[in-house]
Amino acid sequence: MTDKPEFAAIVLAAGQGTRMKSKLPKVMHPLLGQPMLSYPVQAALDAGAKRVVCVVGHGAQVVTDSLHERFGAQVATALQPEQRGTGDAARCGYSALADWHGWVVILYGDSALLTSTALRALTEHTWASPGPLGLLTTTSADATGYGRILRDAQGKIVKIQEQKDCTPAEAAIREWNPGVYALRSDFFREAIGKLTTNNAQGELYLTDLVALAAAAGGSAGLHWDEAELHGVNDRVELAQREQVLQQRVARAHQRAGVSLRDPARTYIEPGVRIGQDVVIEAGVSLRGKTTIEADVRIDVGCVLQDCRVGQGARLLPYSVATDSVIGAGARIGPFAHLRPGTQLAADTHIGNFVETKQTVMGKGSKANHLAYLGDGIIGEGVNVGAGTIFCNYDGFNKHTTVLQDGAFIGSDSQLVAPVTVGKGAYVGTGTTVTMDVPDDALAIGRARQVNKPGLAARLRQKLKSDKERAAKK
Ligand code: UD1
Ligand code: CA
Repeated sequence: MTDKPEFAAIVLAAGQGTRMKSKLPKVMHPLLGQPMLSYPVQAALDAGAKRVVCVVGHGAQVVTDSLHERFGAQVATALQPEQRGTGDAARCGYSALADWHGWVVILYGDSALLTSTALRALTEHTWASPGPLGLLTTTSADATGYGRILRDAQGKIVKIQEQKDCTPAEAAIREWNPGVYALRSDFFREAIGKLTTNNAQGELYLTDLVALAAAAGGSAGLHWDEAELHGVNDRVELAQREQVLQQRVARAHQRAGVSLRDPARTYIEPGVRIGQDVVIEAGVSLRGKTTIEADVRIDVGCVLQDCRVGQGARLLPYSVATDSVIGAGARIGPFAHLRPGTQLAADTHIGNFVETKQTVMGKGSKANHLAYLGDGIIGEGVNVGAGTIFCNYDGFNKHTTVLQDGAFIGSDSQLVAPVTVGKGAYVGTGTTVTMDVPDDALAIGRARQVNKPGLAARLRQKLKSDKERAAKK
């Protein structure tokens, strides 16, 4: 057995994608939160590409920045100054591989569904065949828009005919070119210079290499499932491809022990990790680097971005959390809003219409109804009553509210930060806390109530007659 040859990959991504009708270059449109282009690039890396070059043109700067952010030095870019066709784009990409002498795999930036398995199968198939070029092919009931695969009487691939150059007989062919090729460098270097613009679109077609290969040992076609090969041309297809990717993600979780009540209505990005026996209801969105530990239940309509949720926690319907940590056994929602920097320890409760931001809450503490807890440091076993507000912002600076272990905050209290409520202290309902409260003290700051007997009835009578007099005028 000889070692397998090595390959570099060129991903063509210089086109605008006019049919997307967008300011954004087509390949930057997100699928499950990641730019479309990152999928074929990742597939090439996973398949073992030694080097990857993306050919950029339209929106070159945004595309390049996004690639660098995601892949760093693993991916290089090459500029195609003018979009003169896929053949020209491949030539630009190859020039960035100056000293490369192995095989080259070429694919298109909108091949979002392509798997590394398909790429590996193509390279192996090509290496095992005599010619200098291999390509995936596939068959659909309707191949409109795609380049058709023309074969000779022996079934050998002789040419790819673009839709716009097809005779009616050629247009009836259902086998088409998905745009995934493996080429020997020496052949590529020589053949790419022979392309002409002698076609309906006046472009340099990469696909013409197939006819050139026929004279140099032939092209090897590997038939593959069309479900992995459709690209993205407009926003209808964008949504369709995202559904396929979503289904792959959902199935992997389901097979690993996660229950999804309605997988088609659940959105889970690829970077999300989910433990065993987690139950996720319909309409949930899990995004970014969210991690869900075992036995968590996430009810209808919750949206979590970059969160960590501890074992056995429960998220009740329509709770939204970003950049937050939710401890084991915690109970959140319904309708809770955890903003960045929220850290809830085990067994905490955050109830309906409670908003937290940059707030740490110790074990077993609760804020069950209608509260704003911003820039707080809350100890263990603290009870925050309904309607409590941490007044953390004076228009210039943010200040911290500290509630020490076992403190009790009565309903409708305002804590004007910076302020500290000591251990076991008690804040009476309706108090505006402006001074620190010592441990175990009772703070109460509200006007004393007076009752005036009969005055309500007299007041009502007066208001009634005032109104009647006004109506007569
Ligand atoms: C191409 C193929 C066609 C195939 C189809 C599969 C050619 C000539 N035709 O057609 O056989 O069935 O894809 O989807 O290759 N690009 C550049 N620079 C350019 C032109 C294109 O980088 O100058 C990039 C685009 O960004 C895109 C890819 O190449 O990612 C394919 O270009 P596109 O114009 O979509 O080719 P199709 O006409 O669809
Ligand atoms: Ca296309």
